[in-house]
Amino acid sequence: MLSYRHAFHAGNFADVLKHSVLTLVLEYMTRKEKGFYYIDSHSGAGMYSLADEYAQKTGEFKDGIAKLINQADIPEALIDYVNLIKSFNEDGELDYYPGSPAIAKYFDRRQDSAHLFELHPNDIQLLSEYCQRWHKSHVNQSDGYQGVLGLVPPPSRRGVVLIDPPYELKEDYSKAVKTIINAYKKFATGTYILWYPVVKRELVVAMQNQFSQSSIKNVLQVEYCQLEDTDEYGMTGTGLFIVNPPWQLNKQLSEILPFVKEKLGNTQSHFLLKQLVGE
Ligand SMILES: C[S@@+](CC[C@H](N)C(=O)[O-])C[C@H]1O[C@@H](n2cnc3c(N)ncnc32)[C@H](O)[C@@H]1O
Repeated sequence: MLSYRHAFHAGNFADVLKHSVLTLVLEYMTRKEKGFYYIDSHSGAGMYSLADEYAQKTGEFKDGIAKLINQADIPEALIDYVNLIKSFNEDGELDYYPGSPAIAKYFDRRQDSAHLFELHPNDIQLLSEYCQRWHKSHVNQSDGYQGVLGLVPPPSRRGVVLIDPPYELKEDYSKAVKTIINAYKKFATGTYILWYPVVKRELVVAMQNQFSQSSIKNVLQVEYCQLEDTDEYGMTGTGLFIVNPPWQLNKQLSEILPFVKEKLGNTQSHFLLKQLVGE
């Protein structure tokens, strides 16, 4: 089907949560000298212009990153993410928003490598151009679920896997968790980040059950909802399952969530942070 283009959504409230967690995880990984694999199953275009017709059409970034970038009282746990976004916008205007590959590139070291999967013909082209001079990146126009399974365990036994499907197909919900269950069997010490939208609550509950009934240990769940759940069409909230999170992530998110709610939210907004499966 492939009609989803992340350019419409870059920098929205869901990206703020996803990318602030990705930033914290990658920052943690680079504290150790030993190299790691960054595996991005659904990479998108890499970098987005917020001035282009896609971002301007929806204006979603205006209710996301635009409301955070110039805040004076950013909590410590969010500072690296905000500084990272600022580093792509040095003139002080919010012109660009980095996708997950650009965030990984920001942290890139000689000893690390990035393995990026994307299927959309336009986005793979943009991603390939973006990664042209990034020597340790490997861009693949192939299925990201299969790609993850083919790359774990990494030779260094250190790795971060981001699974960020568009959920155009309902089966993405179970397929994404199943991919982590299978990858975990080969690489139980990896950090896995799975993004999800809150569109229909029962689909999120089904994912939670899939994790709880699997052999996976140590799953943190974080969710930020702009609006109450509804049966109407549309995304009301967003969340992440993080398998083997860095040990401070829970505490860092407990600082970030109230701040995001205060700056981006409204009277309906709420969040959740829980250890879904124990260690
Ligand atoms: C939510 S976007 C990714 C955003 C990106 N991870 C970020 O944070 O900047 C999902 C992407 O997955 C791509 N896609 C859809 N199905 C795919 C598959 N089976 N394998 C790889 N990419 C896929 C879509 O074309 C789309 O660009």
